[in-house]
Amino acid sequence: MADLIEKILGKADDLPVLPHIAMEILTLIDSENSIPADFQSIIENDQVLTLKILKLANSAYYGYPREIISVKEAIVILGLDTLKSLVLSLLTRQMLSKGLDTYGLKRGELWEHSITVAMIARSIAKLMRLANVERYFVSGLLHDTGKLLLDIYLLDNVEKLKAQVNEGGLDFSEAEEMLLGFDHAFIGSKLIEQWNLPSFLENVVCYHHSVKRAPDIYKKDAYIIDISDRLAYSIARGSGTDYKVNKTVNPAEYGKLGLTVADIEANLETIKTSLQSMKF
Ligand SMILES: [Fe+2]
Ligand SMILES: [Fe+2]
Repeated sequence: MADLIEKILGKADDLPVLPHIAMEILTLIDSENSIPADFQSIIENDQVLTLKILKLANSAYYGYPREIISVKEAIVILGLDTLKSLVLSLLTRQMLSKGLDTYGLKRGELWEHSITVAMIARSIAKLMRLANVERYFVSGLLHDTGKLLLDIYLLDNVEKLKAQVNEGGLDFSEAEEMLLGFDHAFIGSKLIEQWNLPSFLENVVCYHHSVKRAPDIYKKDAYIIDISDRLAYSIARGSGTDYKVNKTVNPAEYGKLGLTVADIEANLETIKTSLQSMKF
């Protein structure tokens, strides 16, 4: 199995790259001691990114009455947390927008799904008053990156995979495990490890379809992504041919996170509105 994992990870060379700057920002987000100046200098090193951020900060979306002319101002006005998520969304969008034939995902659908899971996960973490809520946004954004690799590798076996999904009644993760011995969540975590990203991300991504197997310290976090993933299917595209499998959330599950149905519903409504203002 180790050979197979190596072989599939080798396919990472065929992927659009996650820019180096994204790695720096991801690492910074995970650090408890990051200060606005660190973040500012990383962004300012990249002119194109600086321009994009200023354009977005000045767009009607944020409704700020005066023109924002520097990254420093954008940090003060939007807040570091909003800016971190905004930058990461800009940086990962290209990579996650790819159409994935194996999964029946059209161009842009995985991106729409990922950003939805990211927003839901962050909102749940906020409701739960967890520290460092941006980590949950990033986990949501990257949770299905393994699909980018397995799409390339499984293309030759796509009929077998579909048969498992359609006739075997399995979901994608189970069908992948049947064919390969592991699923997209596992291979995604290996990619994250290869990218030298924080172990929080590695673990949460790895177990988003198998929370029970997660190490105890990450169980709750993996569960937040799992539940956000299932909730995302109810408000956005991105399930591909996996839609036949029951992905709904039992309202009793909210109680496990100390939340109520009303909490979640109010959040989903807000996220739905934000999604409508984005272009996919
Ligand atoms: Fe997944
Ligand atoms: Fe997902």
